[in-house]
Amino acid sequence: MTISNNNNSFPLEGEPKGAHILITAGPTYEKIDPVRFIGNYSSGKMGIALAEECLNRRMQVELVLGPVTIQSPIFTHPSLHLTNVESAQQMYEACMDIYPRMNAAILCAAVADFTPETVAPNKIKRKGDELIIRLKPTKDIAAALGKIKTDNQLLVGFALETNDEETNAQDKMKRKNFDFIVLNSLNDQGAGFRHDTNKITIISQTSKTEYPLKEKKACAVDIIDELEKLLTKC
Ligand code: C5P
Repeated sequence: MTISNNNNSFPLEGEPKGAHILITAGPTYEKIDPVRFIGNYSSGKMGIALAEECLNRRMQVELVLGPVTIQSPIFTHPSLHLTNVESAQQMYEACMDIYPRMNAAILCAAVADFTPETVAPNKIKRKGDELIIRLKPTKDIAAALGKIKTDNQLLVGFALETNDEETNAQDKMKRKNFDFIVLNSLNDQGAGFRHDTNKITIISQTSKTEYPLKEKKACAVDIIDELEKLLTKC
């Protein structure tokens, strides 16, 4: 596993004793051969904004981050512990290890649903008319954390839908045992991958709140407000 960290043990002594939050962010890369991978357009911006908002509220953050190009000063913040991962499997292992000692997890990463069955040991050469790569499903991190979640823990997921948005999001929330789900639609201008803005709807078992298009940092405030409300009840 390609893990790097900022050498801070966790939790930190003498630091404010806020809630401990696991955040996943960014894409995953699934290797095809030594030079190629299957990835997606996730920039990690939304997850990093969430981590920053948690730090502003004196929470302790475990950030599990897929391969992203952006750098942020929060990566070296004393109340943040960074785990860099590449594949869905690595993200799964990191999350399963970290979640049991957390108060909540926010799963913002765009995790690959499928990964090549085998990784070619050498660069695949051009040959013949087609190349067939067999894929196998990755582990569903959200569903796995939903299964081990205790009564004192919260789990928050994201959904990026192209159609039947609300129904799919509701269904996902129940299947994965989320306390609430943040829906962002690809149909909304300026929302989703790579943008600095997002348009979210927060759906819980009992409520639905639609927010206007905002900076991702402002969306993070709305999401962490909702999380803090539930944390006080845990
Ligand atoms: O089913 P779908 O991939 O759309 O679900 C999205 C939610 O599930 C997000 O919160 C995402 O981070 C999480 N997820 C996950 N592990 C996967 C796939 C999705 O944690 N393998």
